[in-house]
Amino acid sequence: MSSTETTQIIRPARTLQGSVTLPGDKSISHRYAMLAGIAAGTTRLSNFSTGADPHSSLACMEALGAKVTHKPDRTIEITGTGGSFQQPAAPLDCGNSGSTMRMLAGLIAPHPHTFTMIGDHSLTLRPMERIRKPLGKMGAKIDLVDGHAPITIHGGPLHAIDFETPIPSAQVKTAVLFAGLQANGTTSLTESIRTRDHSEHALRAFGATLTRSASSGADTTKLSIAGGQSLTAIDATVPGDLSSAAFFLCAALLFPDSNLILDGVGMNPTRASLLDVITALGGKIKILNVEEHHGELTGTIQVNVSPNGLRGMHIDGALAAQIIDELPVLAAIAPYTTDGITIRDAQELRVKESDRIALVAKNLRAMGAKFTEHEDGLVIPGNQQLHGAVIDSGSDHRIAMAFSIAALRATGDTEIHGAEAAAISFPEFFTHLNDLALR
Ligand code: S3P
Repeated sequence: MSSTETTQIIRPARTLQGSVTLPGDKSISHRYAMLAGIAAGTTRLSNFSTGADPHSSLACMEALGAKVTHKPDRTIEITGTGGSFQQPAAPLDCGNSGSTMRMLAGLIAPHPHTFTMIGDHSLTLRPMERIRKPLGKMGAKIDLVDGHAPITIHGGPLHAIDFETPIPSAQVKTAVLFAGLQANGTTSLTESIRTRDHSEHALRAFGATLTRSASSGADTTKLSIAGGQSLTAIDATVPGDLSSAAFFLCAALLFPDSNLILDGVGMNPTRASLLDVITALGGKIKILNVEEHHGELTGTIQVNVSPNGLRGMHIDGALAAQIIDELPVLAAIAPYTTDGITIRDAQELRVKESDRIALVAKNLRAMGAKFTEHEDGLVIPGNQQLHGAVIDSGSDHRIAMAFSIAALRATGDTEIHGAEAAAISFPEFFTHLNDLALR
């Protein structure tokens, strides 16, 4: 990130109480922004994410010819290009956002222009071969620099493929579906671990037809999308971000008399395994007011804690992939559980906005925790009291927020260096934390 580094001091808390309405889900905001930008007509979005990342997607859509208006009532109107993007006057700046770079690559590759996609230092370190491969098979000419951004896409007509995803990645799946929507023929994609399905719901909401069938193994899903489909604008409210809610859900687990209410949170089943994890750890969850819009579930979550305290758990396999964004905060509270938390099969954490395994390890160590680091995860024993420390966010939003939560139960104050990174997904995080944490 280029903004000036800021430090937040987190004092230990006595408990966590209150209610919060979360900003719109980051994943859904990206998808609605992109599909609105290519659709015909004007899309109206309420509760769009306030995070910097989805605003990178919006800015790219403007550069491609969509019209974006921020209304006084905080809704965002996007008038789409009706199917054809313009040649952007400058490189498409994806900021810190892997979602913008990977998903947008699929959306723009079928258009007859030369696109350059750039990002910040962290994004330039992240693997992009994973999108070049399938899009290349569809006929796209994509240049990377040693497997990384900057990306140059020499756009043009694409043909359908039958693709099996080698790593569980909703971003790669989305890049293929967005390209398949505009290719010649019907594109199929098989994933053996089911990743978040917001793109499937969003495509249908904007009027596309897409089929899903479960094949061979129980978890194996095959998606098919015919090319040449056009999209129509929608009106939508973006559900609250469950991955942002995760920080407060974990904070609530740390105090026996906590009581937390989160309104209008996205509860899509492909994201909601987090709630099973919170329950397994000892959280008592009530879900009220469940609604469904454009295929996405929302609900009000109330959480408090079992009087028996926090249990531990093992997280691996498909579960690790499904709660990949929540693993840093689960690792950060692991020392306070009775049995500890083991995280394995999570090597993808090493190629997120930072090497999240290494940074979690560095910061747990700073707070005095004992644990074992593995290439694909961490084994963190329970029954450990952490102490306040200086935390390095590594400019990674989820690391800044995860260790702010660990700090609530530490002895002494904690300094979160690089706290401004939280604004990538959740600019209001520290204000809400201050309101909820009673001292
Ligand atoms: C996202 C998918 C995940 C996740 C990221 C958002 C998405 O990444 O970590 O924060 O919106 O599709 P991968 O698809 O690369 O696993």
